[in-house]
Amino acid sequence: MRLSRVEFISMNNPIRRWIQKRIEFQLLNRFLEKHNMNLTGSAILDAGCGSGYSTKLIGSRYNPRELTAFDIMPEQIELAKKRYKKARFFVGDVTEIDSPSDKYDAVFVFGILHHIPEWRKALREIYRVLMPKGVLLIEEVNRSGVDFVEKYLRFSHPKESRFDWPQFAEELKTVGFDIIEDSKIILNIFHAYLCKKHIVNSR
Ligand SMILES: C[S@@+](CC[C@H](N)C(=O)[O-])C[C@H]1O[C@@H](n2cnc3c(N)ncnc32)[C@H](O)[C@@H]1O
Repeated sequence: MRLSRVEFISMNNPIRRWIQKRIEFQLLNRFLEKHNMNLTGSAILDAGCGSGYSTKLIGSRYNPRELTAFDIMPEQIELAKKRYKKARFFVGDVTEIDSPSDKYDAVFVFGILHHIPEWRKALREIYRVLMPKGVLLIEEVNRSGVDFVEKYLRFSHPKESRFDWPQFAEELKTVGFDIIEDSKIILNIFHAYLCKKHIVNSR
């Protein structure tokens, strides 16, 4: 789903960048360090990268051998290409990721699933493009958060894209992820997840 003009501005400003760098990205990095997961030199996908600030943070920290990022809005991808030159950016949809299966060591998802009525399909697509034991890092907002911004800031989101945390965690497991760590980000309406693509024993 495209962002409204107001939400586009609220996502592309120094305050949003500060929160992403100092709070969300730090928390996800702490998850990785705690579980001895090092993404240096790996192949990373930033799904729904917006204007590419998260892509730049990922690139600077992990020096990936391959860094790919996409967003459904061409305007965001234009900005991202100007912001950061060391990634491959393209316009794309997370419910139909233009990528072979089992390709990435890690996928980052910063706040996009609450925009997507088919968020379950998006999780299945992310699972598909991750390699076995690949890592999924998520920052998201739940139903209460989306209801709040709709009421007070007039950001409209599809009803079908709203979820509660137990429902979201259940869906991650159904798709085939192990949830390694899960934490609120200051308020319970924002959560971060560290997940791993589960390997099914074929015997
Ligand atoms: C709230 S913004 C977050 C942007 C950025 N990840 C950040 O954290 O600043 C949500 C982003 O998801 C993108 N988006 C919405 N639906 C999408 C889809 N189906 N596939 C890919 N990106 C999508 C929007 O264009 C927007 O850039």
